[in-house]
Amino acid sequence: MVAKSISLLPWLQNYISFLFFSFTTIFFLLSILLLLLRFWPWCNCHVCKAFLSSSWTAEFTNLSDWYTHLLRRSPTGTINIHVLGNTVTANPDNVEYMLKTRFDNFPKGKPFSSLLGDLLGRGIFNVDGDSWQFQRKMASLELGSVSVRSYAFHIVTAEIRRRLIPLFASLSDGVIDLQDVFRRFAFDSICKISFGLYPGCLEASLPMSEFAAAFDTASRLSAKRGTAVAPALWKLKRLLNVGSERELKRAIRLVNVLADEVIRQRRELGSASSHDLLSRFMCSVNDDRYLRDIVISFLLAGRDTVASGLTTFFLVLSKHPAVTAAIREEIANVMRGSGDDDVASFEQLKKMHYVHAAMYESLRLYPPVQFDSKFCVEDDVLPDGTFVRKGTRVTYHPYAMGRMESIWGPDCEEFKPERWLHDGKFVPASPFKYPVFQGGLRVCLGKEMALMEMKAVIVSVVPRFDLRVLDTGRSLKFAPGLSASIDGGLPAQVRRRRSPAHGPC
Ligand code: HEM
Repeated sequence: MVAKSISLLPWLQNYISFLFFSFTTIFFLLSILLLLLRFWPWCNCHVCKAFLSSSWTAEFTNLSDWYTHLLRRSPTGTINIHVLGNTVTANPDNVEYMLKTRFDNFPKGKPFSSLLGDLLGRGIFNVDGDSWQFQRKMASLELGSVSVRSYAFHIVTAEIRRRLIPLFASLSDGVIDLQDVFRRFAFDSICKISFGLYPGCLEASLPMSEFAAAFDTASRLSAKRGTAVAPALWKLKRLLNVGSERELKRAIRLVNVLADEVIRQRRELGSASSHDLLSRFMCSVNDDRYLRDIVISFLLAGRDTVASGLTTFFLVLSKHPAVTAAIREEIANVMRGSGDDDVASFEQLKKMHYVHAAMYESLRLYPPVQFDSKFCVEDDVLPDGTFVRKGTRVTYHPYAMGRMESIWGPDCEEFKPERWLHDGKFVPASPFKYPVFQGGLRVCLGKEMALMEMKAVIVSVVPRFDLRVLDTGRSLKFAPGLSASIDGGLPAQVRRRRSPAHGPC
């Protein structure tokens, strides 16, 4: 009897192990199923179905164009993409509510920080609370000071005179990618203004620096995370270090090398007597990792946005010869008496209202930051009556807003600088109707500097050169990224004009 029991023992052990294994497996699978059911965004509405199946691509080239179409048709100017847990609005009252009235209820939030955290770390674009306030205070002291503005103007005009104009002049009927040129120009300018360093990447003979390419990759792949239906997917890829996450990691490693080099060089040159932004931060921050994050945020802020604004400006201009002529006329009037080789002074730029209006008008149709998201902390109701559940991503959409008939009237899709002029003087619109530089408490700190930089380029280039964008008929496709860039760049033929720079048009 005892012997029989002993012979049954291994069988019993196996049986119990089998039961235990089966139970654990079933329990594990059920947990995953429950998790999926809880977080998997099921929705059968036509917008979500079109999003998930990408069927919208049959009619629209860019996601922003499809969203614009949906927002225009919405009676409130607000839509919900349920599968993304995303409320998107083009309603100025909602924008004011998010960015000003209920600012505390619509921070960037943790989900945003985790999307961009690997690239931006604790940089100003990626934080809320004390860290944001500290960086904003330091940066606004710097960017708002008169001496820094005139220092920035001096750097920008030197870049234009010594590099941009000679580069275009050397091409004589040649073709060049304007987007690439303006990226190099903006990169060099922001490095000099923010860090007191010159990376020298504008020389035509040099290929786009590896760093700048890494920057583009990092921006593109970080933005791609935001379009994932289930964030768990990119997080798993990051954990396993595969696919796009592996590529992103490699790109961020290169960007870090650049940022570390910027900090090292700044230290070597000495920061105590310098007036650039980085030197100011170095006086109060010892943590190199934090300094790296600050450097990267300012590179991102200053390079891609300005380059994007300039690229689309010249695209629009090449389709509007009458506006080009009016710009040349205004420049000639303001600069009459200046020598042909002169670039406009700060005071002369301020007098050019038509150029300013043309710049605002092109940014209205092609804002460098096409959409911007916040996260709702507590349940809320937007002014248009839309209920927003706690944890929802709420996005305002400057690209769509620039094309809303309800905001700009029936000619909203036309490029008309005159809409900004009253008695020949430029008059701005409310930042909540025109949130190209955001608005409210986190309004862009580099707005004035960016406008000065763009205007200085326009006023120097338009009278001297004809930039004829090739294939203006192709439908514009934007590459994914944190700011708008044109897929495939913007090839243009450059021709030096025969008439003197400030002579008749
Ligand atoms: C045409 C050019 C530009 C456009 C359209 C633009 C637009 C914007 C927008 C939409 C934001 C809000 C982004 C967010 O929610 O995080 C922003 C923030 C910011 N911008 Fe700009 N920007 C431009 C140029 C610049 C330049 C040249 C600088 C710096 C030198 C700069 C510095 C900043 C900073 C520091 C912030 C963060 C403000 C904060 O979070 O408190 N920007 N900008």
